[in-house]
Amino acid sequence: MTIKSDFLVIGSGAAGLSFALRAAEHGKVVVLCKDDPLVSSSAKAQGGIAAVTDKNDTFDEHIADTLDAGAGLCDEKAVRTIVTEAPEAIRELLSWGVDFDTEKDGEFELGREGGHGKRRILHAKDTTGLEISTKLLRCAQAHPNIQLLDHRIAIDLITTAKLGCVTEDRVLGAYVLNPATGEVDIFRSDRVLLATGGTGRCYMYTTNPPTATGDGEAMAWRAGAIVSNLEFVQFHPTTFYNPNGKDHDGLTFLISEAVRGEGGVLRGPDGQEFMQKYDKRGSLAPRDIVARAINSEILRTGHPCMYLDMTHKPKGFMTERFPYIYETCKSYGVDAEVDMIPVVPSAHYQCGGVATDTNGRSSLRGLFVAGECGCTGLHGANRLASNSLLECVVITKRAFQCMLTTLPLAHKMEDYPIPEWQHGERAERDDLAILYHCWDEVRRTMTDYVSIVRTDHRLQRAATRLRNINREINEYYWGYRVTPEIIDLRNLALTASLIVDCAIRRKESRGLHYTLDHPEKLPEAIPSRLHNW
Ligand code: FAD
Ligand code: SIN
Repeated sequence: MTIKSDFLVIGSGAAGLSFALRAAEHGKVVVLCKDDPLVSSSAKAQGGIAAVTDKNDTFDEHIADTLDAGAGLCDEKAVRTIVTEAPEAIRELLSWGVDFDTEKDGEFELGREGGHGKRRILHAKDTTGLEISTKLLRCAQAHPNIQLLDHRIAIDLITTAKLGCVTEDRVLGAYVLNPATGEVDIFRSDRVLLATGGTGRCYMYTTNPPTATGDGEAMAWRAGAIVSNLEFVQFHPTTFYNPNGKDHDGLTFLISEAVRGEGGVLRGPDGQEFMQKYDKRGSLAPRDIVARAINSEILRTGHPCMYLDMTHKPKGFMTERFPYIYETCKSYGVDAEVDMIPVVPSAHYQCGGVATDTNGRSSLRGLFVAGECGCTGLHGANRLASNSLLECVVITKRAFQCMLTTLPLAHKMEDYPIPEWQHGERAERDDLAILYHCWDEVRRTMTDYVSIVRTDHRLQRAATRLRNINREINEYYWGYRVTPEIIDLRNLALTASLIVDCAIRRKESRGLHYTLDHPEKLPEAIPSRLHNW
């Protein structure tokens, strides 16, 4: 089956849906997501969205904090653009019905997070992402020009070059699996927005949902687009340490940085505060510094976790300001008003992605990328907390405007015939358990060798293992009929390899990339770029 639309959006998170709502005013939009529409990092966001809305705050201060967290690698133009367009993005979210918490006088109640010199985080208690996602989804479902198809998995982008055209290379749409029928459909569009989210599932323990398997990076790279800065994987310093083992599928529960913003103090097993040893900002230092500090205290003390202490706050504070976090900790047997919360770092955010300009435009014509799978340069070597939801909403607005001017709807492009998807020809399939072993091997390799502290040797070992796994997948598993499991594994293994390839090239320690073999920062900050030409 072939489905045509003016705009094809892959992803139903904050990036995908905010783009779709704007594009739907001008043409037919198809939005695809590979699970339920609210299974996304966007829906799980807790702390909030950063924007200068207070008269005592300034754009220059938000810009300076972002650049400082980014360890010299941010693209200053991208930072300035996104920070200064933030208030407009917030107005748009309000127009779609999003409710942020306010003070009695009607002003936004602003939270604070690590690396922010001022209170500037708009939030809806501690479930901001759910508030934004449900409101965007409601608007999208009500829009007559938006067709939202869930449980559809984009497998590969279709490009003119892949079809053998030598005179131009542009995107024509995507091959998409419908797991309910086992069929692969062609979704045809000259304007594609890739908004598939993060890569956290490359690691054993992550705050990310099961959809975060790096599909966007992998699809774009296979299609010939440039990927950038993938070595900068952000580990969130404070995720709940469950002494009875992590949740079965590696999902760790986030204890928002906003908890530290409201006075939470990191302590060792002896009850002593330790962050001052690492940074004068203490528990509110940027994430890379706090995650490394916790990692090194865990190694030094031999204790399996560190602790986040909120017991000094007045009774009722946690239940009022952080009801979701409080209740979830309670369900694990920790009463955060009385007990310190056991915490460990977990993979949380991919600062790199498909390289784009500040209009979300990739190196492939017609392919725009936004949200976590894109890399505008805003985050540099380490993302400042709560800047990512902001980036989703600002960049999709710019991407949409750029699409309309560079690829006008009135201009009809040449209609290349697109061949049907060719399933592999092998008939017999291995047990699913074999695929899961492969999957585990990727995640274990990344966790053991490509984590918070790296070395040349560990990275080389990871590269060799991943090369073998990728070869096995391409030569063997890809020869069968496609299934959701094999699509995930193929993307996960490729994305993991790209992360390692970027990491191997960086012979310095900067932001989230810390290696014992090259502990110093080089004088010149150079983004990493990989392409598949
Ligand atoms: P997502 O919201 O992850 O959406 C990705 C979409 O792509 C999903 O719909 C998925 O189904 C779809 N998809 C993926 N692959 C395919 C495929 N092959 N075919 C079809 N569909 C596909 N950031 C902040 O700024 N503030 C916060 O407070 C904050 N808190 C966070 C808390 C948690 C627990 C997590 C995990 C992240 C948090 N972040 C926060 C980061 C932020 O939420 C994400 O970076 C952002 O929401 C990403 O949005 P997105 O639209 O790019 O991707
Ligand atoms: C958090 O609430 O700590 C997450 C914020 C973010 O990842 O930006």
